[in-house]
Amino acid sequence: MMKEHDYGKETSNVSLTGLRSLSTEEPAGGHVNTAFTADHGTEFANSKAKEVEAGERVEQRPLCSKPYAGMSKEELLQFSQKPFWVGLRWAGFITFWLGFFAIVAAVIALIVLEEKCPEESLDWWQTEVIYQVYPRSFQDSDGDGVGDLKGVSSRLDYLQELGIGTIWMNPIYKSPMKDFGYDVSDYVDIDPIFGTMEEFEHLLGIMHEKGLKLVMDFVPNHSSDQHPWFVESRKSRDNEYSDYYVWVDKRDCNTMSCDTSCSGNQPQGCPPNNWLSVPRGSAWKWDQTRQQYYLHTYLAEQPDLNFNNPKVVKEMQDILLFWLDKGVDGFRLDAVSHIHEDTDYYNKDEPPSNKPNITADDYKYLKHIYTLDLPDTIERLREFRQVMNEYGTTAEKHIFSVNEVYITEYTDVETITKHYDVADMPFNFDLIGGLGPECHTGACIYGLVNTSLGMVPEGRWSNWVLGNHDEGRIASKMGGTYESAMNALLLLLPGTPTTYYGEEIGMLDHGSITFNETRDPRGLILGPDRYQEHSRDPARTPMQWDSSEPSAGFSTNPETWLPMHPDYKTINVQLQVMIDNSTLNTYKALVALRAKRSFQEGDLVLATPTDNLFAFSRNFKHGEPSYLCVMNVGYEAELYASSEDVTANNEGEVVVKYGTRFKIGDKIKIDEQIQLDPGELVVVEFYFY
Ligand code: GLC
Ligand code: MG
Repeated sequence: MMKEHDYGKETSNVSLTGLRSLSTEEPAGGHVNTAFTADHGTEFANSKAKEVEAGERVEQRPLCSKPYAGMSKEELLQFSQKPFWVGLRWAGFITFWLGFFAIVAAVIALIVLEEKCPEESLDWWQTEVIYQVYPRSFQDSDGDGVGDLKGVSSRLDYLQELGIGTIWMNPIYKSPMKDFGYDVSDYVDIDPIFGTMEEFEHLLGIMHEKGLKLVMDFVPNHSSDQHPWFVESRKSRDNEYSDYYVWVDKRDCNTMSCDTSCSGNQPQGCPPNNWLSVPRGSAWKWDQTRQQYYLHTYLAEQPDLNFNNPKVVKEMQDILLFWLDKGVDGFRLDAVSHIHEDTDYYNKDEPPSNKPNITADDYKYLKHIYTLDLPDTIERLREFRQVMNEYGTTAEKHIFSVNEVYITEYTDVETITKHYDVADMPFNFDLIGGLGPECHTGACIYGLVNTSLGMVPEGRWSNWVLGNHDEGRIASKMGGTYESAMNALLLLLPGTPTTYYGEEIGMLDHGSITFNETRDPRGLILGPDRYQEHSRDPARTPMQWDSSEPSAGFSTNPETWLPMHPDYKTINVQLQVMIDNSTLNTYKALVALRAKRSFQEGDLVLATPTDNLFAFSRNFKHGEPSYLCVMNVGYEAELYASSEDVTANNEGEVVVKYGTRFKIGDKIKIDEQIQLDPGELVVVEFYFY
């Protein structure tokens, strides 16, 4: 410190001298720059002084005759206090700090204002692929020809390899199996055909260990007619369970008009109204003992529960809690649109739909204005959701729910919105309903996708389904060649995908099941001539694991509950695992790709469709790549013409493909090289910037 202080003193002395000498000496002429003048003026003065002191002739050095060698410390210090230098120093000082703070402020402003890469905020049901296991048909472990829980447990590794995260299992509760589990006789027990409660717990345990979630099927609308509640209920009009179901007196044909098709003279008189059941025929069945009709929206063996009875509401809520306590992760709520009906039974005949070519006993014959999606139904669903929410809050996990809602031409947007309010989502069946032989153009698929997304209320989450246990398989509807393209729609469009078992290998409907082999009541009810019109058996045949006899690895039993599809030797898991370009390997690649944020959270841009091509891009930005997905859904090869909206950049790399024209890793020019054959699919990774 002292040293610095002394040095400061010295500096000021020298500076003073310097100042004095400057004021006495003539500046070197002709210099405009003061700084320059001062420097060289001093040098000249000093050399003159030396000449005089030494008394000898010293050669006068010309100014700047040699490269500037710098000034001594003393010289520098001498001038550092001159107002000009002081001012310059201050100016520099201020400019530096102003600049520094300006840069800091600019950086802060950029950080604050720049669009942020959103934090990952999606829940598991949004990020994972749901896989529907139809347990009768997935894997038989005990050789009885029917799939079971142990069978499912033994195939978890396969499901994990597929990359799926959630399994939805159709009902496994105790049931007389009139509707294969959708007729429940005990909601809190496992049917022996599927196994035991211990086996269920074991399955759930290992699923959770593997990070897989389980969604159960919840069937609130109806029970089995063998359920103890119904057995009691039908015994009398005044027992504990009398009001558990929808019991209504016959229509009095003396005071009310009666349909000519029923005879008012029979003891059962006429049913209360014209309502139809989904499988066919009247929704009312006369009960001899109670001398009343009961309502069955489905089979007569599936009586509708009475949700106007608070005890029933409570029972069903307790059932949810029972399975939640077991640790299940969510529910698929079955047939929920039917929970309540208008109770003014005698005055609520439903009007005809006037659809062509429909017989009077067909459910579609009527407009279901008094029996579908009533406000009370939505209220019950809200209460179910509430039970799940409360449980989830305590258990610190999200309980997932998806409603089975078929949107008909009579369903208004408001009703759809309500279903989004009372569940995480209602199943979106637009692809199930819209895809088929008549939808083989880019324009058709564009229309389906666009309309479907337009129905999703603001801020809610979309989802996609290609098939299920009630509908024909997608590979049969579109042709097996198109399975991978359809899987790409399912997996790469925004929203949660649900895969029906077997779609990953392109399983087909079994079109030649005989009437004798038919098991589905909806087929049986129509008789041997017409059973194929409504039988759901073709899409429920057992999973095709390998080419082995007798039953494709599904069972050791040659007699399976439904016959194996005869093509299992060519369409099966074992074969497809080994083929690079198989439907199965493409499926896995699509599932893996879907895990990227661009697919989970990115924008969707639909390209202008053509006769053959449907294309879209997914873009998340924030440094993530974008993806262009192009598929040929038509019947002719076509070249993709890129559009600015969809792909700003002209080059990309193939990351998934189905077909033979491309290899993974191919670098391609997007608007010159994407030529696709029918059924071919390519996903190209590119950057927008
Ligand atoms: C749902 C099921 C269907 C069942 C019906 C009655 O629609 O998906 O399989 O037959 O409900 O429970
Ligand atoms: Mg079995």
